[in-house]
Amino acid sequence: MYKKIRTITEFLFFRAPRIQKNKLKQHFQNKTILITGASFGIGEACARLLSNTQCTLVLIARSTDKLIQLKSELESYSCHIEIICADLYQSDAAEHIFQSLTARNIQIDVLIHNAGKSIQRSVWDSLDRPQDINRTIAINYINPAQLTRLLLADLKHKQGQIIVVSTINAKLFAPPFWSTYQASKTAMQHWILAIQPELAVHEVHAGLVYLPLVRTRMILPTKQYQQMPAMQAKDAAQAILACLIYRKRQWQPWWLGIAQIGSILLITPIYYFYKHLLKRKL
Ligand SMILES: NC(=O)c1ccc[n+]([C@@H]2O[C@H](COP(=O)([O-])OP(=O)(O)OC[C@H]3O[C@@H](n4cnc5c(N)ncnc54)[C@H](OP(=O)(O)O)[C@@H]3O)[C@@H](O)[C@H]2O)c1
Repeated sequence: MYKKIRTITEFLFFRAPRIQKNKLKQHFQNKTILITGASFGIGEACARLLSNTQCTLVLIARSTDKLIQLKSELESYSCHIEIICADLYQSDAAEHIFQSLTARNIQIDVLIHNAGKSIQRSVWDSLDRPQDINRTIAINYINPAQLTRLLLADLKHKQGQIIVVSTINAKLFAPPFWSTYQASKTAMQHWILAIQPELAVHEVHAGLVYLPLVRTRMILPTKQYQQMPAMQAKDAAQAILACLIYRKRQWQPWWLGIAQIGSILLITPIYYFYKHLLKRKL
């Protein structure tokens, strides 16, 4: 019974736009698309969807073995694949990626900022963990912003596109235990929102995709998420690619606007609700 309710909920609330194969090919053929976090989850799903479009994919992640495996698998379809191993926690990661692209004479048409680090931890459990803030902000904000900066000249020249994979939470009341993730995602969101018009005047398109819960490796450590309705990685990838094809400034689930209004109107009751909940757990 529960499974049936979950399926119906996913159908109503976690659906993504459908894209026709010919639209995909039309838009991405002969383009060079860089995907960060391409080894698993949503990034891998994007690479798989694009593998039949006669494009060049530049796949970035830390898991070299997985990237090599993807390259040999997907190149049997209709695409060329370059892989760059990089750890977006490292302070020189953006520069390393940029230098690797330059050395291979690769110019990017589409930049998909998908790699992400999620972390759920109380601030009281983080007192001796400065690395939590450093890592999350480096992966979710600093390096994506630095890489964008380095690639902007090429993107301007090619009238390229940038997509940032964000979360619905970036538009809602910040929940306890998610401070570091929320702050890093919101930082990237606002950085892109601020430069969107600056890019648009040079025909560079930038968009944000606000995803709800997606069934990937990322949600495995959070027990309560296992049984909850969620989007499939392939659907999330479709939302990202649709945003690029239709040059949308944002994609979000249809109900997020309503949730956002609720989040603003109920800001005080939500605060007391969380406080009450946390006090009971003390
Ligand atoms: N899953 C959700 O519920 C959900 C909801 C909203 C938004 N999102 C966003 O969606 C994006 C993709 O997440 P996902 O669900 O697909 O997670 P995932 O399955 O865990 O994949 C994350 C990807 O990011 C890469 N990555 C992580 N740390 C990295 C680092 N330090 N350097 C380079 N690459 C790194 C991983 O590759 P390696 O481990 O090989 O480096 C992997 O390819 C993230 O930005 C996330 O915030 C996810």
